[in-house]
Amino acid sequence: MRLHCKRRHFPVWQAADPYVRLEGNEPMSAPKKLFIKTYGCQMNVYDSERMAEALGGQGYVETKSADDADMILLNTCHIREKAAEKVYSELGRFKGLKAEKPDLKIGVAGCVAQAEGEEIMRRQPLVDLVVGPQSYHRLPEMESKARAGEKVLDTDFPEEDKFEKLKNRPKAKRGPTAFLTVQEGCDKFCAFCVVPYTRGAEVSRPVSRIIGEAQELVERGVREITLLGQNVNAYHGEGPNGADWTLAQLIWELDKIDGLERIRFTTSHPNDMMDDLIEAHGTCKKLMPYLHLPVQAGSDRILKRMNRSHTAESYIRLIERIRAARPDILISGDFIVGFPEETEEDFQATLDLIEEVKYGTAYSFKYSTRPGTPAAERAQVEAAVADERLQRLQALLTRQQREVQDSMVGREVGVLFEKAGRLPGQMVGKSDYLHAVHVADCDRAIGDLARVRIVSSGANSLAGELIG
Ligand code: 5AD
Ligand code: SF4
Repeated sequence: MRLHCKRRHFPVWQAADPYVRLEGNEPMSAPKKLFIKTYGCQMNVYDSERMAEALGGQGYVETKSADDADMILLNTCHIREKAAEKVYSELGRFKGLKAEKPDLKIGVAGCVAQAEGEEIMRRQPLVDLVVGPQSYHRLPEMESKARAGEKVLDTDFPEEDKFEKLKNRPKAKRGPTAFLTVQEGCDKFCAFCVVPYTRGAEVSRPVSRIIGEAQELVERGVREITLLGQNVNAYHGEGPNGADWTLAQLIWELDKIDGLERIRFTTSHPNDMMDDLIEAHGTCKKLMPYLHLPVQAGSDRILKRMNRSHTAESYIRLIERIRAARPDILISGDFIVGFPEETEEDFQATLDLIEEVKYGTAYSFKYSTRPGTPAAERAQVEAAVADERLQRLQALLTRQQREVQDSMVGREVGVLFEKAGRLPGQMVGKSDYLHAVHVADCDRAIGDLARVRIVSSGANSLAGELIG
């Protein structure tokens, strides 16, 4: 009897009883198990979800352990060197598993797959399948070919839109927060960055598709949506009237969805911070007071060499305008230290900018050479110098982060509860400003949004009590 054709109709999200029965009540064999490990940014988290859903149509259910998987998929990140190396060492660790289980299929997805597809196949013969971030809607076909013993590689940038090709999203209940990709790719070509090469040119999804997906998420219990894009504020998707809409217009449309309580977006470029978006931060109640706005460096000479097309001064003025619209907004940033040719004076300019802006949270990285990008050819800063600068930068950012977190004590904030805490009766959620907040003796459920008074600030989180 051929079992697989029936099973195709029972994807991951409907698999509460995965042992689907055929007519005549004959039990089917167990579903295949899929283990996905995700590296890198939130967009990869979103992509992993969609890949799992696509493979659900092939009869896969997700497992948390690689040991009992029939297919292992590494969804990779290529933004820094170490990320790719981690992937190779992780693949090496599957050697024993594959020897025990010859039917195990191993796939590599994401940006390392895009950048090094053939190299991966050559360097690691364990790999059966390589799929780039723009072609994962083809995973079901690719999986069938891999099952038939073929080695399959697809790193195309196809004409068709993968989101259109992917099935509608599942209907089962889910947690209260979700990511939703609205824009992909980047045309900025910062001199250090691989994204324009791995994710391709900037593309925005149409408004109607995004609203439809958001509505479905809300029906499934989602109350907070984070709109994702490598350059999310450059969003210019087709609106219902045929004209391109800005990110702010999209946010206002999402604002109309009953049951959706919070909207966030990431990651933005300073040059695409349009007036209507700044204004929305002051007027749209559902838009949370948190903005991730990478600056990368504080020296105009280095910013120019980075091809950032903004200056330290224009960035600071922009932050002032955003704070004028929403005074309590928490600003987050990304920084690169040890960019080629960076002098101590350049580095000091970055510290000065940080002092001026005051970041609530930040991500900082030592420059990592990415072959093929313009900066890779330039005079590199000595590793020990870059290390020392990174330490100084992080000490300053940690101090600021601490000050901003501590300043929350005594304030009333909204908290969306995401899970139970470790202590009995305790719940944990995120504040409007994205701080983790613990509430003791909390009679609220996961997905509830409550007003909370912050009473203390701990190492990495706040403690609060319900108001009223
Ligand atoms: N080296 C170090 N950091 C990098 N980033 C991007 N490319 C590199 C690189 N080659 C950082 C930037 C970006 C964040 C996602 O990763 O700060 O904003
Ligand atoms: Fe990379 Fe962001 Fe620059 Fe685009 S704007 S090239 S994604 S750092």
